[in-house]
Formats: sequence, C-alpha cells, structure tokens
Amino acid sequence: MTKTKVRKAVFPAAGFGTRFLPATKSIPKEMLPLVDKPIIQYGVEEAIAAGCDQIVIVTGRGKSAIEDHFDVSYELETMLEKRGKKELLAVSRNVSNMVNLSYVRQKEAMGLGHAVLMARDLVGDEPFAVILPDDVIDAKVGCLKQMVDVFEKVQGSILATQIVEGPGISAYGVLDGELMKGDPRVIDVKGLVEKPKMADAPSKHAIIGRYILTPEIFEVLEKTPLGVGGELQLTDGIKGLLQKEKVYGYSFEGKRYDAGDKLGLMTATVDYALRRDDLGPQFREYLKSLKL
Ligand code: UTP
Repeated sequence: MTKTKVRKAVFPAAGFGTRFLPATKSIPKEMLPLVDKPIIQYGVEEAIAAGCDQIVIVTGRGKSAIEDHFDVSYELETMLEKRGKKELLAVSRNVSNMVNLSYVRQKEAMGLGHAVLMARDLVGDEPFAVILPDDVIDAKVGCLKQMVDVFEKVQGSILATQIVEGPGISAYGVLDGELMKGDPRVIDVKGLVEKPKMADAPSKHAIIGRYILTPEIFEVLEKTPLGVGGELQLTDGIKGLLQKEKVYGYSFEGKRYDAGDKLGLMTATVDYALRRDDLGPQFREYLKSLKL
C-alpha cells in the first residue's frame, strides 16, 4: 500500500464566539490578537510547518475579516513602501504569501462536525488535518508536525490529547484507551466519552483541537444524527469512525492555550509577550511592579 501524506488542513471558523461578546459582534473570534497576530495565524503557521500546502477555512456570516487578513492589502502595502517601512511591509506580505487558501461557507453554525463536513469537496479523498484555531499550542516541534510524523507510521486517524487532572476533565471529550507499548505518546483508542463527570471519565486523556482524519469521516458524518445542542458533533462522527477503523490518540509535547476563552487568551498573551525581545523586558518590569 502506498503511504499517503497530509497536505490539507481545515480550520473551522464559523462559530459565534459568544464567550468574547461584545467584541465578537463585529470581530471574528479567530481574528482576536495574541500580542499582534490574529490567533488563527498561529494555527496556519503550524499547518505550514507540518507540511500542509492547502488550507481550507470554514467561515460564515461576519467572518470576512479572516479573508481580508490573508489577502494582499494593496493600499496598506503601497503606503508602507512609500514610507520606506520595509520591516512592516515584509510582515504584511508574509501573511498574504503564506500558502494556498480556500474558503467554504457554513451557512448555519450547526456544530463542529457539520463545519468539517462543509470542507468535503475541497478535501476530497485524502487524509487531512483539522485545526481549531482557538487552541494555540506552543511547542518546540509544532503539534501538527508531531502528529504528521505519527501518521506516517500508523496511517490512521489521530486525535491530539492532553492530560487533564480533576473536575476540569468534564469540559472535554475523553479517550477510553491506553498508551501503546513502545510509543509512550500514542494511545490505542477503544472509545470516547463526551464531557463525562469526573467519576465516569475513562482516562485523563482529553481531546484538544488538533486532529488528523481519514476521508472516511465524511461518509460517517453524513449519516451521524444531530447530537448535543441539536448540533452535528465531530466527536459523534469520530465514534462512528471507530466502528470502521482504528483511531489513535496522541499526547502531544508542548503547552496548549484555550484562546477561545478569556482567561486562556489572557494567559497566552502574558506568556507570548514575555518571550518577545521587543516587549519582554519592559513587560516583565511592569508585571514585577504590580502589588498583587
Ligand atoms: P467553539 O465552540 O469553541 O466556538 O468551536 P464558538 O461556538 O464560536 O465559541 P463560543 O463557545 O460561542 O464562545 C471551536 C471552533 O469551531 C468553530 C468555531 O469557529 C471555533 O473556531 N465552529 C464551531 C464552526 O466553524 N462551526 C460551528 O458550527 C461550531
């Protein structure tokens, strides 16, 4: 059997982002800045670093800022050129030169599974990545690259996980499965439970926003009934996929921030700003001066 590569990454970005109201009345959540870069750009850069050369963004009403962001900005670039602002010009051009991007519309926010299904025609019959843009992951080797390396060996669907201790586990889909012998980060998945009570959680391996899925997921999602909240849930689709083929978990190396949540975005902002050469030293002094 010839091995297949993961070339395409799907970014569901059609949700309402209600946790950031009122900002998200007019700004897509995915465009909120983490220091000075929209959170979705961190995910796009991670996908490129993992070898993906086609990015599919699932958008909806009120999300045109995402398309503008990854487009050429003639007026801005002409102005920067005239003023000799070479570095800023490069920053702007880098974004538009990044990669081949396509957009598909999810007319109604009917759930993550439904958003992924919208990308079916653009993905076609090959394995693909799904990146939830509001999960920002800081890692020496990008999280998706780590997963792609595992995919090359197992040639099956992979769900990124992190260990969650205590009652916080109830906010996640949780894997029922064990770490495989010989590969301490890969989990042999037997089942998944969506948002279990702490006592019922089958493990501490919580699913986070990075997936590599085989195209069979589309067939399954088509037949999956609407689940919690009247939405087509991706986890329900993955449960169906598990009936047909092997699915793996992958306990990634790195730190994840839930930038779709206020506290998560604030924490990420502090950590990312402290690491910046241009901001870090002054910001550190400011933080030290606070009488907390
Ligand atoms: P979330 O549930 O975190 O996003 O979905 P949300 O619904 O926009 O946010 P809150 O909870 O109201 O604050 C994770 C990702 O899936 C996308 C979202 O845009 C987000 O990037 N999504 C979710 C879709 O594209 N379509 C949907 O129907 C639901």
